Amino acid sequence: MVTMIHYKGYDAIIEKVYATGNEHVFAFWDTLTDDQKKHLLQELSLINFNELHELFALTKKHTIPMDFEPAPFTRLPQTPEEHKAFDHAKTVGIDTIKKGKVAAFVVAGGQGSRLGFDGPKGIFPIGPVSNKTLFQIHAEKIKAYEKKFGISIPWCIMTSQANHNATVDYFEKHNFFNLNNDKVFIFKQNMIPSLNEEGKLILETPYSIFRNPDGHGGSLTALYQSGTLSKLLNLGVEVLSYFQVDNPLVRIIDPVFIGFHVKHNAEVSSKALQKAYPEEKIGVFVKFSNMRIGVVEYSDLPLVKQHEKDERGNLRYSAGSIAIHLFNTRFIEKIAQGNISLPFHVAKKTIPQYTNDGKNNITGYKFEKFVFDALPLTEQNFILETKREEEFAPVKNKSGVDSVDSAQELMMNLYKKWLLQKNIPVPKVVEKIEISPLFAVESDDLPDSFAIPQHKEVYIG
Ligand code: UTP
Repeated sequence: MVTMIHYKGYDAIIEKVYATGNEHVFAFWDTLTDDQKKHLLQELSLINFNELHELFALTKKHTIPMDFEPAPFTRLPQTPEEHKAFDHAKTVGIDTIKKGKVAAFVVAGGQGSRLGFDGPKGIFPIGPVSNKTLFQIHAEKIKAYEKKFGISIPWCIMTSQANHNATVDYFEKHNFFNLNNDKVFIFKQNMIPSLNEEGKLILETPYSIFRNPDGHGGSLTALYQSGTLSKLLNLGVEVLSYFQVDNPLVRIIDPVFIGFHVKHNAEVSSKALQKAYPEEKIGVFVKFSNMRIGVVEYSDLPLVKQHEKDERGNLRYSAGSIAIHLFNTRFIEKIAQGNISLPFHVAKKTIPQYTNDGKNNITGYKFEKFVFDALPLTEQNFILETKREEEFAPVKNKSGVDSVDSAQELMMNLYKKWLLQKNIPVPKVVEKIEISPLFAVESDDLPDSFAIPQHKEVYIG
């Protein structure tokens, strides 16, 4: 018979912990200071045990998405009519941006475990010549768009428990890269306990529970709960341009995309690219049998569907999601106020557990929400095809696919393409080249002619 611990004012939560078979979290109780005991009990008080029970059930049954077919999308312009539509969208987009209705939003709360970098992923150096960090490149792009459109662009940055303070410190140390710091909103997402294979809580320290950030899908709730959404609404922001911190190629403020979004009265719009090969690890846009649009994760797309071809021999499920979206601020408000929670997905991961011998890695479950699960909640949405080489260079791994090297290669290729478009020759001797966003965020920003120096490494800024 286990003797239950007691602590005045916390009896109900202590009982709940025992009733759910989680009393092992008190394994170090006798060694804790009073503050540590309170800390542990307060953390436990915030846990929704019923929700965790339901989430653990997810680990037993894998829910296969319902019936679906490929989602329709607007392809890159080929005909004169399509070019005209894109030109018109651009005009509408520029007008929307100039009226101050657009803000940028980067999700940067992830743990970046594949990259294995100590610190927020946003401070990872990625500039192929300059070594500028991901955050600096994003900040400079925003600064450049502000100059181009003659406005100030609010920037929301979502962090999480583990990297929030380091992110704030970094921006303060760098004077917010000369952005108006009144309009840079850095806020934390929620955390959710991870579970061990028996569905029980895991200790991270003798007096705290292991929790993980609740996924990029937690961003909609976090925008609302942190008060950032109401600040945006007060500033007159109608459209939030969402991107991931680890994509240095993202076109943060894209007039064409924004224009189409507005013209379609979309609540959410998304960018898609043609999958490079059937097994590529990106989700695909689909239309479910209830006619709602969504994304099916690559791991959930059955092998036959991955390889299915259309009558022209092209991949049928070809429109891949690259996590670039536009969200209407009123739509986010509706979701958050209506307490509509995006579903959690489960992933088996290695988790460091605190034991008598210090930290030991165990296998457990992390639960995360995915932001694209907001798509099926929309009445109106829009999907736009984009060119991979112009917008997508994910930095996920240390080496190989989607790595630092591949992203830098893609960045340099894009800079060379811009120069080529301007008929500016790149000398053969140049091995590395980088264009600062403050100099150009697209080919059109480049001067008509200038000479590239005969150096191995060239930084244009
Ligand atoms: P990923 O799912 O690729 O995860 O996040 P990650 O944290 O960068 O890296 P791994 O999987 O641990 O190696 C895609 C984007 O979503 C953000 C990340 O910061 C990244 O910009 N994200 C992810 C969040 O903001 N919060 C989360 O809880 C998860």
